Amino acid sequence: MSRDYKIIEKEEIVPNVHKFVIREPRIAKKARAGQFILVMAHEKGERIPLTLSDWDPVEGTITFYVLELGISTMDLITLDKGDSLYSIAGPLGQPAKVEKFGNVILGGGCFGIGGIYSIAKAMKAAGNHVTVIMEARSYYLLYNIENLRSVSDELYITTSDGSGGIKGHVQKKLDELVIAGRKFDRAYFMGCTFMLMQCSKATLPHSIPTGVALNAIMLDGTGMCGCCRVTVGGQTKFVCVDGPELDGHLVDWDELFIRKQIYREEEAVSYQSHACRSTTGYEHEMKNNSGGDS
Ligand SMILES: Cc1cc2nc3c(=O)[nH]c(=O)nc-3n(C[C@H](O)[C@H](O)[C@H](O)COP(=O)(O)OP(=O)(O)OC[C@H]3O[C@@H](n4cnc5c(N)ncnc54)[C@H](O)[C@@H]3O)c2cc1C
Ligand code: FES
Repeated sequence: MSRDYKIIEKEEIVPNVHKFVIREPRIAKKARAGQFILVMAHEKGERIPLTLSDWDPVEGTITFYVLELGISTMDLITLDKGDSLYSIAGPLGQPAKVEKFGNVILGGGCFGIGGIYSIAKAMKAAGNHVTVIMEARSYYLLYNIENLRSVSDELYITTSDGSGGIKGHVQKKLDELVIAGRKFDRAYFMGCTFMLMQCSKATLPHSIPTGVALNAIMLDGTGMCGCCRVTVGGQTKFVCVDGPELDGHLVDWDELFIRKQIYREEEAVSYQSHACRSTTGYEHEMKNNSGGDS
């Protein structure tokens, strides 16, 4: 029997970031903090990994945030409340390591501001003192602030342009806290690869064990294709089945950056031609519907 992945709620909460709530009782029942799903917007679309931000087993819904980057994220965000996604597979990946560590520091940037919520909630429920630092280029790009505040003991905001909170990035606030004498027993970061690398570099001198939610390119999401291969501490790991949380102090970041850029040219070309096709299709439809002479 085919499933209906209906969009219950969809909202562009800040420019380019869209919140989705989908009816998916099966995943809502099984999901654990840090896991992800593979989503296809339509039948001919690509499967893309997205992090589960929240889920409600009673209502049977899951929540995730989409940052529009290329074709597949664009396909997703053109869907509306009431539409259905073509497919969702999950929950996938290992749950984040959550236990009573003591003082936990979490950092989220771009889509990670949405995704880090499940980690903060689980860490808090496990009895930790939870400190969250969020980052964005500018204050107007920050979202999920009240949700994160509700599951953290301390919440700090950083912006690259200084328009809100501290001017700088997650690692700057982290450094400030450590210099002021704060001790952290565990760190976890979610966001773009550069941010994950910078944050891992920041926790290394202070010997804070650090998990990072790696976002390698994925295809099957089940450890079969090898697309998401990374090197961690000299060993080959597959982000989809061994992660997404892996040890930030041991990741071979140079290799990850190279692998992530492999399809950059093709992605840019296909994004542009897809956008052009969409426009042409739209114009064609408009012409036909307006009783034109074709
Ligand atoms: C475990 C995991 C969790 C993620 N969670 C989220 C999330 O919650 N919200 C969100 O907005 N994004 C998330 N991402 C990133 C998201 O999957 C990519 O942004 C998306 O696949 C880009 O597809 P595109 O066609 O729109 O862009 P493209 O133009 O195809 O790609 C833009 C960039 O996204 C990366 N990318 C492309 N294809 C993939 C792929 N199949 N898998 C992973 N990365 C890819 C590449 O680095 C590429 O340069 C996650 C990625 C991983 C691996
Ligand atoms: S996505 Fe294929 S091995 Fe991980």
